[in-house]
Amino acid sequence: MSVEREPILELRHISKSYGSVRALTDVSFRAYSGEVIGLVGDNGAGKSSLIKTISGVHNPDSGELFVDGVARHWKSPHDSMQAGIETLYQDSGLAPDLTIGSNIFLGRELLRRGVLGRLGFLDQKTMERRALEELEKVGITVPLSKRTVSQLSGGQRQAVAIGRAAMWAKHVIILDEPTNHLGARQSLEVLKVITAAKEQGLCVLFISHTLPHVLEVTDRIIVLRLGAVVRDAPTTEYTVESLLGTITGLSV
Ligand SMILES: Nc1ncnc2c1ncn2[C@@H]1O[C@H](COP(=O)(O)OP(=O)(O)O)[C@@H](O)[C@H]1O
Ligand SMILES: [Mg+2]
Repeated sequence: MSVEREPILELRHISKSYGSVRALTDVSFRAYSGEVIGLVGDNGAGKSSLIKTISGVHNPDSGELFVDGVARHWKSPHDSMQAGIETLYQDSGLAPDLTIGSNIFLGRELLRRGVLGRLGFLDQKTMERRALEELEKVGITVPLSKRTVSQLSGGQRQAVAIGRAAMWAKHVIILDEPTNHLGARQSLEVLKVITAAKEQGLCVLFISHTLPHVLEVTDRIIVLRLGAVVRDAPTTEYTVESLLGTITGLSV
């Protein structure tokens, strides 16, 4: 007898319009811990609208969202963060002139009073050390001491941004085009961090137009077209060609 796993994130019949523009139609899927899910689709397919629904930027017009089995209705992105969901938008959101350690803890003091409260007051040195330890857990080994983010390469920066998300996320990380504008080697660093986050037990939603990256790093791929899910299947069932065909709706 097989035991049903509980999804860490579940969307049921989510629809969303902006005025007369229908962005999402009846979107449903389940996502599990320790799984990387690719979310792909052409421009305008609804990827950003879907992410914003999950991360609390807006609410759907209809449908339900469950985190760890509990129905949730976000009032703001802070609500979803407190429920264990971290979202990294195209712009990494790091402060270039601050050190990596400071970036890791930026803006957390109020939000995570519980965590920091237990650790007590964090001085700069402790913060840098903790940041180093946490980033190492997700396979990032940038030389940290006193380096500011502006001194890092694009790939290192993005790796630090994902590392930060992985460190604070309890359940889910959402990455919107994290390898955009990165070279091949830099992208590899980012893909390694995604795999490490998954191995830590997180669920990763990976949005990308770079189909070879999606095929390489995901366990499952959900294809959106005109706001609806047109395919949700294990990554092993796709090729670049079939994925492209499903995205565009043209037969291959
Ligand atoms: N703020 C908005 N106001 C009006 N229409 C929007 C807005 N955001 C997105 N849309 C529309 O919703 C649809 C889905 O867009 P989006 O979610 O951004 O897709 P994707 O991220 O896959 O490119 C598109 O038709 C887009 O033009
Ligand atoms: Mg988008």
